[in-house]
Amino acid sequence: MNKLNRSSHCDKGDVSEWSERFGGAALVTGAASGIGEAFAVALAARGMDLVLVDWDRERLEALALALEAEHRIRAEAVVVDLAQPDAVQAVRAGTEAAGLSIGLLINNVGYGVYGPFTEQDPVEQAGMVDVNCRAPVMLTRAFTPDMVARRRGGIVFVSSTAAYQPTPHFAVYAATKVFDLFLVEALWGELTRHGVEVLGLSPGHTRPTRFSERAGDPVSNPPGGVARREEVVATALAALGQKRSVIHGLRNVAVAVLVRVLPRTVVIQSTLRYFEGLDLACSKVEDDARDRPRPPTSLDGRFARAVARMLIAFLAVSFIDLVVCSLLTHKLRFWFPAWIDARWDSRPDSWVTYSQSYVAGIVFIPMLAAEVIREFVPKAAAAARTAFATGTVAVLAFIVWWKGGLMLQYHKEQEAVAWVALTAVTWGLIRLGEKLPARMAGVTPLRLAAGLARGVAVFFLVMAVVDPVLCVGVQGLPWSKGLIVEMGFFVPAGFFLWALARRLSTDVPEVQCEGAIEGNIAGET
Ligand SMILES: NC(=O)c1ccc[n+]([C@@H]2O[C@H](COP(=O)([O-])OP(=O)(O)OC[C@H]3O[C@@H](n4cnc5c(N)ncnc54)[C@H](OP(=O)(O)O)[C@@H]3O)[C@@H](O)[C@H]2O)c1
Repeated sequence: MNKLNRSSHCDKGDVSEWSERFGGAALVTGAASGIGEAFAVALAARGMDLVLVDWDRERLEALALALEAEHRIRAEAVVVDLAQPDAVQAVRAGTEAAGLSIGLLINNVGYGVYGPFTEQDPVEQAGMVDVNCRAPVMLTRAFTPDMVARRRGGIVFVSSTAAYQPTPHFAVYAATKVFDLFLVEALWGELTRHGVEVLGLSPGHTRPTRFSERAGDPVSNPPGGVARREEVVATALAALGQKRSVIHGLRNVAVAVLVRVLPRTVVIQSTLRYFEGLDLACSKVEDDARDRPRPPTSLDGRFARAVARMLIAFLAVSFIDLVVCSLLTHKLRFWFPAWIDARWDSRPDSWVTYSQSYVAGIVFIPMLAAEVIREFVPKAAAAARTAFATGTVAVLAFIVWWKGGLMLQYHKEQEAVAWVALTAVTWGLIRLGEKLPARMAGVTPLRLAAGLARGVAVFFLVMAVVDPVLCVGVQGLPWSKGLIVEMGFFVPAGFFLWALARRLSTDVPEVQCEGAIEGNIAGET
């Protein structure tokens, strides 16, 4: 530990409201960069004396000097490696030597390392546990008793949206952040009644920070969007004393809610595919950059493929509507807008019937918009992205209101639902068709047997429910011996085949690169 030898006296004005509220200085860990630096700036602006902790001496000292000069506060720099077992004693000694008592503790320090668990450096993995979990626990243990005795104080833990789901390729990091979140929420329960304000802060991707550089993660355009560190800090300071826990950003909140309601296996698998897709895209970029110059846009033709898929799905649905339904119903079904024929809905002519197949087009509006945002709206221009997304939602809402109103007016709602379902099935089949060759490449006889067993198991179990519902519920037939025998067979046979399929799957040796192939496909879409 090195404490800076600088003048400790600053001509400060009155003790600030914030210093009064927390009864002492603020201690910020990981203050030399990123979110910690933004915390330091925001608290200095509120007139709080600071103890800044980090291992980056140069930046920390420069920040402390700048904040003292600008805000007329005391800012003590304590240079320490928080992964070390004696780090907390060093921090304590630094604050005592400076004669500062700590009223607000910002447990911000933390880092992540991206990559498959078995390929990560074990020293880094243990380091994440030390820095992200052990250090905040020990710091909180060191400074909280005084806060409780004073009956005022504040504690913030910087967790992450990664705490809301198990995250393959960020497995250890995400687990440390769950630790932080659960710990701080439990402390909120224990300490609030002693006058200590406690908050868990969960940011999503935040810039500018050095987090991604150190983590080596490939995410540049995350689903939750990218926030500025000052906004994240403002969210935390506004929520401190008001809430137990806060997630920064509406999109991050939405993702956190979504991953809570989805089955966890689905969340884990899609996260894995997301990262594997990004990895493949990155290595493709690296390979291509090595081999030949690349065109500046449409990195790997993903956009073109996505649009082609939508067009094919739309045309297929329209074709089914126009040709197949016309043949089946002996009426020519065609999109016939009201301004061409005001009586389209009541024409006696059997050759013309109003059709809803264009709902396929409506379904694709948000998907197309998402592709356009991803491919064309500059990554840095968050405002442009938000404006485009808002415009798209407005257009979609207008079309749904307008066409939806017509459908309801002419009692076409069931038909519309059927077209949405057909569109989804067509889209799903096209996606399946794309994946199939890659999937088939890894199909061994054992894998095939597992797939068949799973398919038949699903059929049996579904029939065990559907059959009685149809016979007894819909048709009003009494329970029959045949039905009971059928269920007595379907249920155990279904579970047996399901277990067999699982067993066969675990016995199948992993086909090298299969995950990579799937990841590639997921990454393309
Ligand atoms: N940025 C994001 O997208 C994001 C998202 C969610 C949550 N978070 C969380 O936000 C917190 C702050 O991260 P950030 O994004 O601001 O990252 P950052 O820019 O890297 O800031 C972290 C600071 O802590 C320092 N540090 C790292 N290990 C240390 C150690 N052992 N001892 C002392 N100091 C150490 C870093 O120094 P070096 O740079 O020299 O390592 C850096 O100055 C972390 O807890 C992180 O998990 C960040």
